[in-house]
Amino acid sequence: MGAIMDRVRRCVEDIRKKTDFAPRAALVLGSGLGGFADKVRAAAQVDYSEIGGFPVSTVPGHKGRFVFGYVGDTPVAVMQGRVHYYEGYPMEDVVLPIRVLGALGAKELFLTNAAGGISPKLASGSLMLLTDHITTFVPSPLIGPNEDSLGPRFPDMTEVYSLRLRELAKRAAAKRGIPLEEGVYVQCTGPNYETPAEIRMLQALGAGAVGMSTACEAMAARHMGLEVCGVSCVTNLAAGLSDKKLDHQEVQEIADRVSGDFQGLLWELLAGLA
Ligand code: HPA
Repeated sequence: MGAIMDRVRRCVEDIRKKTDFAPRAALVLGSGLGGFADKVRAAAQVDYSEIGGFPVSTVPGHKGRFVFGYVGDTPVAVMQGRVHYYEGYPMEDVVLPIRVLGALGAKELFLTNAAGGISPKLASGSLMLLTDHITTFVPSPLIGPNEDSLGPRFPDMTEVYSLRLRELAKRAAAKRGIPLEEGVYVQCTGPNYETPAEIRMLQALGAGAVGMSTACEAMAARHMGLEVCGVSCVTNLAAGLSDKKLDHQEVQEIADRVSGDFQGLLWELLAGLA
């Protein structure tokens, strides 16, 4: 067993001391979505601090725990809080939780985030379903010795965001009457927001929205064969696309405002898996 699997197994052992819950799907909650975890019919909770070697977020307002329970009849592992590359954690730590979710038995992974809108189709408050991503500006989490028991050295990334889950997401949005745009997510390192010149570059590259998480998690998940779905909450127009300066507090306010629709969409989507 390689060093990565060793860490994953130790985390799973610590979680298994508290619960034998078997999730079918996993959900990572981004900004403003924390309340979703409270609606899950919880079977168990495990704080990240109870798991040896597990990364703990340094961002104010980000809780750090797993909630295991049911969305409708679907058994789900929910991550309330994630760590970001900009916090200083190596990529291996940033994606460790994703690998743990896979090792716990999740087959489908739902990733959510707050993002800056680049596409003219997106307004502050829009939801965007991820069709693909650009990770060229952050290091790959797969750099280093390959963990062959997880996946191949050179994994295919042709369909990171599952067409099947995208169709289910669109159907769930339509059923609830929630507008859902589609586009390519680009991950930048943060923690600074981008410059207007960087946003013009990202626009020319075909990016619809920009954020500081998710794509690296999706890559680690695809490496180990999980089916991935991603949704961004556009909390602001990206730098230079409006006359406003970017501000974390405003990002949080918009994320909170949209959270009703966002939670409704996720609920419909996850409950519909069972
Ligand atoms: N850029 C990067 N990440 C973000 C943004 C942004 O404009 N808004 C929310 N997360």
